[in-house]
Amino acid sequence: MTAKIIDGKAFAATVRAKVATHVTRLKQDHGVTPGLAVVLVGDDPASQIYVRSKGKMTAEVGMASFEHRLDAETSEADLLALIEKLNADSAVHGILVQLPLPDHLNSDLVINAINPAKDVDGFHISNVGLLGTGQKSMVPCTPLGALMMLRDHLGNLAGLEAVVIGRSNIVGKPMAQLLLNDSCTVTICHSKTNDLQAVVRRADIVIAAVGRPEMVPGDWIKPGATVIDVGINRVPNGEKTKLVGDCDFASCVEVAGAITPVPGGVGPMTIACLLANTVTACCRANGWAEPQGLTA
Ligand code: GUN
Repeated sequence: MTAKIIDGKAFAATVRAKVATHVTRLKQDHGVTPGLAVVLVGDDPASQIYVRSKGKMTAEVGMASFEHRLDAETSEADLLALIEKLNADSAVHGILVQLPLPDHLNSDLVINAINPAKDVDGFHISNVGLLGTGQKSMVPCTPLGALMMLRDHLGNLAGLEAVVIGRSNIVGKPMAQLLLNDSCTVTICHSKTNDLQAVVRRADIVIAAVGRPEMVPGDWIKPGATVIDVGINRVPNGEKTKLVGDCDFASCVEVAGAITPVPGGVGPMTIACLLANTVTACCRANGWAEPQGLTA
């Protein structure tokens, strides 16, 4: 069997087109332009690429983009002061602080200083709590994009066995929560899991989110399973480098029923969901009807 390739690039383009339509409507009906502020501290090359890409896509859908690049030695007090300013700025509907932050900054403190209504990453403790109790919240973008692809491919997920490899706050934990909210039977695996292969083998849905290049081989995958590869790992490729996922694509594609490629799978959906969350935040802040059908 050769798996269906789930085209995240095309899917994300349709989400961004819907976002752009909503942005136009908000401008026409209310004279308001949704605005997203992105804060980058330091000069981590991967983060710089993400932030540049976010700024470009934000502008492309007609939203206002505010970029704040701070040097690596920025103090916690200065960063918190910037967040306070963005919290109070009515032109800013979404705030994203790019992670990881330099070691001297306390990420939990910084994230929890963001107004939860503007927390388009869904990382604030109150959004985490709302998601965990099945209430309306901001939903983290990467798991949200993955869920949209799963629902699009599989329809109703109820009763399916889902295995999430990785327990990060950004992907693994919220992904498990979303799958649970969709009535999957969910297992979270991590570096201490006994017999990872046996657990993965029973999954109808495999989410790989560990950041270890090609660690999941095809012979771990149950035939016909849906594989969502969240990993984006840069590895040597002759003189150059290339991007690979957490799954060994060549072998997994022979066994799975469907699989997301790297690049071109989950990555583009993350940014599309960030833009969608910003439109949602803008509507909620103003008491306007929320856009339906933008995300999962
Ligand atoms: N670093 C890696 N992924 C993310 C993300 O989704 N949001 C933020 N803020 N930082 C990240």
